[in-house]
Amino acid sequence: MKANEPTTREKIKRLRELRERARLGGGKERIEKQHKQGKHTARERIDLLLDPSSFVELDQFVVHHCSDFSMGKRKLIGDGVVTGYGTIDGRPVYVFSQDFTVFGGSLGEMFAKKVCKLMDLAMKTGAPVIGLNDSGGARIQEGVASLAGYGDIFFKNVTASGVIPQISAIMGPCAGGAVYSPAMTDFIIMVKETSHMFITGPEVIKTVLGQEVDFEELGGALVHMQTSGVCHFMVETEEQCLDLMRRLLSFLPSNNLDEPLVMETGDDPNRTEERLEEILPDDPDKPYDMMEIILSVVDNGDFLEVQRLWAQNIIIGFSRLNGRPVGIVANQPKRFAGALDVSSSTKAGRFIRFCDAFNIPIITFEDVPGFLPGVDQEHGGIIRHGSKLLFAYCEATVPKITVIVRKAYGGAYDVMGSKHSGADINFAWPSAEIAVMGPAGAINIIFRKEIAVAKDPKARKQELISQYREKFANPYIAAEKGYIDAVIEPSQTRPKLITALEMLATKRESRPPKKHSNIPL
Ligand code: HXC
Repeated sequence: MKANEPTTREKIKRLRELRERARLGGGKERIEKQHKQGKHTARERIDLLLDPSSFVELDQFVVHHCSDFSMGKRKLIGDGVVTGYGTIDGRPVYVFSQDFTVFGGSLGEMFAKKVCKLMDLAMKTGAPVIGLNDSGGARIQEGVASLAGYGDIFFKNVTASGVIPQISAIMGPCAGGAVYSPAMTDFIIMVKETSHMFITGPEVIKTVLGQEVDFEELGGALVHMQTSGVCHFMVETEEQCLDLMRRLLSFLPSNNLDEPLVMETGDDPNRTEERLEEILPDDPDKPYDMMEIILSVVDNGDFLEVQRLWAQNIIIGFSRLNGRPVGIVANQPKRFAGALDVSSSTKAGRFIRFCDAFNIPIITFEDVPGFLPGVDQEHGGIIRHGSKLLFAYCEATVPKITVIVRKAYGGAYDVMGSKHSGADINFAWPSAEIAVMGPAGAINIIFRKEIAVAKDPKARKQELISQYREKFANPYIAAEKGYIDAVIEPSQTRPKLITALEMLATKRESRPPKKHSNIPL
């Protein structure tokens, strides 16, 4: 060994020092600021998310190559994003976690390269990518190199879509074009108060439109959960966010060639539920809570609802039946009588496509009086948006089982997982009403003249409505034609669904090869 050359021990010491510097990101002060805002650091978040000691960091020593705006003097190792792989419940995942303490988590060329490398590995090995977002957006000092970095990530998001699950947590700012990477992933979780998503911020809105709005009102978690439909899950704390991420992943396979994990849930597959006989009101026009039906049927009443506060006339979410993950789509009569509208069609359509891409069977509980009437709906494009839902059902080749609980009227009957949209098994409760439209509407159209000339028009109308209800508002005409495979007792719904699901476990169905379909967007 030559004099002045470091010993191996010294080299190891240097490695440890570098690692420690990387661990500190933007420094103690900025970490403290992060904590004061109720936020964890990028590394703390990874520790909370992954199985203990499972994280393996990549590219810890990457630095930016920018020299403009004195950036040459400010090189922070790691460059504002922590990337690596680890496990959740023993299953491999890839994580990138933006470090707000380093240049505000802003994305530059090398930052983007780290994320892209991670996504490539995830694609090669078939495991989910989780993004923990907390960033001021494009790194201003790096100019177009930063925009190029975003562009590269967007491209990979799209390539990975439908191949591996991609899930985004928004745990701080996420602004400008930066929102489009999370938006193209499968699910977005937002933390109340600390996370914000918007394309143009309050300042720009004020300058361009003269409107005053704050960050929370513009793009806070509640707004995206309730109004825009951008957010799939809203949580109170970062811990809840990361717990939810783990729970969500438990329903999903690692990739599109994998099957979702079947788990022992301890709930009896033959369990019957007498109270399902009592749920529907005697008056078919009265609402009830569809959620009660879902919770009674699924394993241990465990249901992870997606987009809970948006388009509440439809319920979507994940659950298990005898341990098998399923995606549930259900009309909610408590809201707009369960009628389909622009938002609910979009909401359920995208969910069905996710389930189909990742081999998750779709269970539909149907009680739909039709599409929501109104000028707003027509001018808002209910034709275009409603067809998304129809398209998604027809396109899906995963096992599809439908239970008509009460109403299945008009085009909505066809749309909501009917036999004609390719459902494998269609059940109906004895309370099902399957017809072109509801009794009152139908009578007004086909007997208008007869009612007008009747001695007592009101009485005649009632009589005709009763006759129509007797003839059409039941499941038996559809059952006679084989559109319904079985009329089942409500209490038997769980065992019937489970046996059908198990029968369909080996289902094979394919569509003609093509580049891709042309879903009405
Ligand atoms: C470089 C940035 C930065 C950015 C923040 N910082 N954003 N550095 N590029 N985009 C730095 C700050 O200079 C500061 O550095 C540190 O991060 C923390 O920022 P603060 O402003 O002190 O924090 P805070 O008060 O919490 O405000 C956070 C913020 C604000 C709301 C995110 O920083 C902000 O408005 N940033 C700019 C957001 C933005 O307009 N980004 C571009 C969006 S357009 P020091 O050294 O002082 O700690 C976009 C296009 C993408 O992203 C297009 C893709 C196609």
